[in-house]
Amino acid sequence: MLKEDFMWALYFRHDCQLFDESRKIPKADLEFILDAGRLSSSKGGARWKFVVARNPEAKSALRQACTNPQQISSSSAAIAILAFRSEPGASQHHIAAANMMTAAAAIGIDSCPVTGFDQGRAKNALGIESGEYEVALILPLGYRIKPQPPKQYMPLSDLVEYR
Ligand SMILES: Cc1cc2nc3c(=O)[nH]c(=O)nc-3n(C[C@H](O)[C@H](O)[C@H](O)COP(=O)(O)O)c2cc1C
Repeated sequence: MLKEDFMWALYFRHDCQLFDESRKIPKADLEFILDAGRLSSSKGGARWKFVVARNPEAKSALRQACTNPQQISSSSAAIAILAFRSEPGASQHHIAAANMMTAAAAIGIDSCPVTGFDQGRAKNALGIESGEYEVALILPLGYRIKPQPPKQYMPLSDLVEYR
């Protein structure tokens, strides 16, 4: 991958709060994004599971578990990352989330990481009965309906110190 393509994806991504409800993500693109999540652990993906809420019933149930329901209801699909409770590296799923967001951005798909939800209601909505997993993060995906807000990146010189 060219450096420019990778940086383009990072510039494209922003915290997208509202999606264009009329646009659906093609299945192949959704699987490309999920594959980026799968490849985010050298343990073969055994650290987590992905549950995709794609049909209106599943999204409607999940929406009710979330603090900002519009992020789910306007999305084309929402990927719930389930983490094992026993997983020692409890933050590992953030790597999968970040890689899926960058993969999505690389193909022009927007996202918004969400942790503002009720754990019990989210599990019920997704039909997860096992106590082995918890819903670690929900990633609604879709296409922006508003232009991206202006970005305010700091210059590298303000962020980095070399020793
Ligand atoms: C782990 C995590 C959880 C988040 N949970 C929520 C959330 O529940 N609701 C929400 O609107 N945004 C959520 N966000 C999005 C942040 O608010 C967002 O990333 C922040 O506004 C920065 O936006 P930017 O990525 O466009 O710079 C979450 C972000 C992260 C990294």
